[in-house]
Amino acid sequence: MNILAIESSCDDTAAAVVRDGRTVLSSCVSSQIEMHTVYGGVVPEIASRKHVEAISGLAEKALEDAGLSKNELDAVAVTYAPGLIGAVLVGVNFAKGVAMALGLPLIPVHHVRGHIAANYISHPDLEPPFVCLCVSGGTTAIVDVRSYTEMSVLGGTRDDAAGECFDKVARVLGIGYPGGGPMDRLAQGGDDGRYPLPVAHVSGAELDMSFSGLKTASLNLIHNSQQKGEALDLPAFAASFGKAVSDSLVPRTMAAAKRTGYGKIAVAGGVAANSRIRADLQAACAQSGDRLFLPELRWCGDNAAMIGCQGFYEFQAGHTAGWDLNAYATRDIALG
Ligand code: KG4
Repeated sequence: MNILAIESSCDDTAAAVVRDGRTVLSSCVSSQIEMHTVYGGVVPEIASRKHVEAISGLAEKALEDAGLSKNELDAVAVTYAPGLIGAVLVGVNFAKGVAMALGLPLIPVHHVRGHIAANYISHPDLEPPFVCLCVSGGTTAIVDVRSYTEMSVLGGTRDDAAGECFDKVARVLGIGYPGGGPMDRLAQGGDDGRYPLPVAHVSGAELDMSFSGLKTASLNLIHNSQQKGEALDLPAFAASFGKAVSDSLVPRTMAAAKRTGYGKIAVAGGVAANSRIRADLQAACAQSGDRLFLPELRWCGDNAAMIGCQGFYEFQAGHTAGWDLNAYATRDIALG
């Protein structure tokens, strides 16, 4: 089954063709980062307009790269939630148009379910059930993946997402946008014990997290050193920050894995590219005996291949949509 997949939930326009859920025939991503960098964050209206400009050409390119004609497509899958509402709407309307014109089924895909499915591309032997740590610019959640289409959140952030925290701190340091990658690189070789930063615990909710205190503490540290005219040891600060994020995420993921007893842990989303988090999870799984599945770096960030992959399983479960499909800024992953 050949699925044309469309993704436009934030600042990447993407189209891909995926065969039978696991084989990526093509994957095209057009990043808008340059456009948003001058503002230090994504400007929703600009994102929507740029998606409109790029989406049609990208879909044509995805077909061309896959070596397929329109007639060889069997369905169209699209991210319909969560995301910037105007941005998601562009993808949903485009996918509706293509599906309607070609007489194909339309498959709505939850963006975070897509991130989880990126692991199926990197690991052909991975099958549910497993626990997945989902960490991106908008999401931080530990998900119980009971089957390809049945999942629920075991724990997650009460406030900021981990990726957002990376981005805000990097912006104040002036090291680039989005900030996760630059912070990760800066942290290499830094002393992670130099700046002790807070790791919050949510009382009564063992698997929940909070990153707003870490963000505030980090920004205060940066501003205080600037006001006092003291140079911050940047690699040490970035390493200390990365450690604090990882110390929030990794023990809770391990606790969730223990609770479910699946023996399999996966990671998903842009922040899953973080070298500290990957290394800490590897060390923790070596201790616990859980099998760890890390997506290849190219499938961590937003892409449409992951949407085509999850779309295949949604289709198999009978989850198709009518022409009245709507886009949602937020949506529980359990609802699909
Ligand atoms: O999954 P993604 O591309 O978009 C969303 O769905 O949000 O994730 C983007 C996030 C950004 O916050 C970015 O700073 C972060 O992923 N990120 C990283 C790394 N690479 C990207 N965070 C930490 N370390 C990285 N190496």
